[in-house]
Amino acid sequence: MKAKLITLIAILLFQNVAIMAQNPTLGTIFNRTSVRSYSDKPVSVETLTLLVKAGMAAPTGMNRQPWEFLVIQDKDVMAKLAADLPYAKMLKEAQAAIIVIGNPEKSDYWYLDCSAATENILLAAHSLGLGAVWTAGYPYESNMNKIATALSIPLPYRPLCLIPIGYPKGENKPKDKWNPAKLHLNNW
Ligand SMILES: Cc1cc2nc3c(=O)[nH]c(=O)nc-3n(C[C@H](O)[C@H](O)[C@H](O)COP(=O)(O)O)c2cc1C
Repeated sequence: MKAKLITLIAILLFQNVAIMAQNPTLGTIFNRTSVRSYSDKPVSVETLTLLVKAGMAAPTGMNRQPWEFLVIQDKDVMAKLAADLPYAKMLKEAQAAIIVIGNPEKSDYWYLDCSAATENILLAAHSLGLGAVWTAGYPYESNMNKIATALSIPLPYRPLCLIPIGYPKGENKPKDKWNPAKLHLNNW
């Protein structure tokens, strides 16, 4: 019984490695993880622009693209935001950050569209060897107001999230979230 289980796990692991070797997109999806510690290596404006471009490639309801992207490299601004935001302390160490900002007047789906853009940015960052993490603006009024005030973001624009970015320091292992019990086939 134990030997069968070990064999099954070995086959599944081998299948995963084989799939990721053949398909770098799936490799990026499965290996991305939130990174909260960064080295001193700078991240170029070209690279940050490429990440924003990946964000803008995301799907949006009725293709409204109700978004703006604000890139910060100013260490003083990042230190102030790190001090103000309770769950974005890693920003102190980051080399840059991207704020994904939605326009609720352009679409009722702004937070969904901006979430799709955020995931694209996180995946693109991982694929380029960068580390990044989604930190919450929306739905917390207090977080959104702190970010908007610090960066002079006018209404009606709302910062969905702030993504600290840098080259990872140390090892960051992806979490294995695969849970077959959550998969329903044909019917609940
Ligand atoms: C909507 C949302 C808000 C999040 N807010 C924060 C945050 O404020 N600070 C933080 O450190 N991580 C935040 N995260 C990252 C999650 O903690 C992380 O994705 C989760 O623990 C799973 O880990 P993984 O990204 O490594 O797979 C947020 C993620 C999402 C999707």
